[in-house]
Amino acid sequence: MFLQVAVLLTLLSHMPALDACPKCGNMVVPYPLSTGDDCGNPRYRIYCNNGALEFLSAPGIYYRILSINPGAYKLVIRPPLIGKNTCYSSDLSVGGLRLDENLPFNISVRNTVMLFNCSDNILLSPLNCSSTSYCRQYEEIEEGSGCKGTLCCHFLKDSSMTSHRIRVRVGGCTAYTSVVDVKPKDPADAWNYGIELQWTSPY
Ligand SMILES: *[C@@H]1O[C@H](CO)[C@@H](O)[C@H](O)[C@H]1NC(C)=O
Ligand SMILES: *[C@@H]1O[C@H](CO)[C@@H](O)[C@H](O)[C@H]1NC(C)=O
Ligand SMILES: *[C@@H]1O[C@H](CO)[C@@H](O)[C@H](O)[C@H]1NC(C)=O
Repeated sequence: MFLQVAVLLTLLSHMPALDACPKCGNMVVPYPLSTGDDCGNPRYRIYCNNGALEFLSAPGIYYRILSINPGAYKLVIRPPLIGKNTCYSSDLSVGGLRLDENLPFNISVRNTVMLFNCSDNILLSPLNCSSTSYCRQYEEIEEGSGCKGTLCCHFLKDSSMTSHRIRVRVGGCTAYTSVVDVKPKDPADAWNYGIELQWTSPY
């Protein structure tokens, strides 16, 4: 009897964990996302820290998960904060956002990325750094006020560029933000700020 139970338990513990994870705070954690070894699919690891869901970047920075759309295999993380007095993103010291290329997540093509406090040589790149760039509107709202008057640019994160990185550095651009599916006619404080990530299906 004891032996049978022991064998059964051993079998169960070697079966793939297929159940969805429990809620984190008030957010549902849909499969395959996984907040622990005993639920979800461990390749899709995210973190439940003090009741808040977070995504961990390759250099070890946690980004708050704002929303998840399991049907579209997408989630949105909060862009890093930008200083009030300096135009520095909070992840500047690690070079911005970088995803581990061995994991099944990438940065989706619906993000409009804005870069701030760029050095002049950015003007040689195909970014939109004109006086009508969306980044000028962001500078006018409170969150972007630390970057007011700096050289800034925007670009659509399309498939022609790396899908695992948004880079900032001292001597390049020192801050960034991102808007999902930008609505040019809406005011900048009504935009959907976030970085949309997508994952490959586990099947
Ligand atoms: C812009 O970045 C440079 C370094 O590239 C830094 O010296 C300067 O303080 C930054 N400006 C602001 C407003 O943060
Ligand atoms: C830059 O972006 C703005 C806003 O989308 C657009 O009106 C303008 O034509 C763009 N300029 C260039 C040079 O692409
Ligand atoms: C990102 O991942 C999705 C889902 O696997 C894939 O369809 C898409 O081509 C990837 N995008 C890039 C730019 O690699």
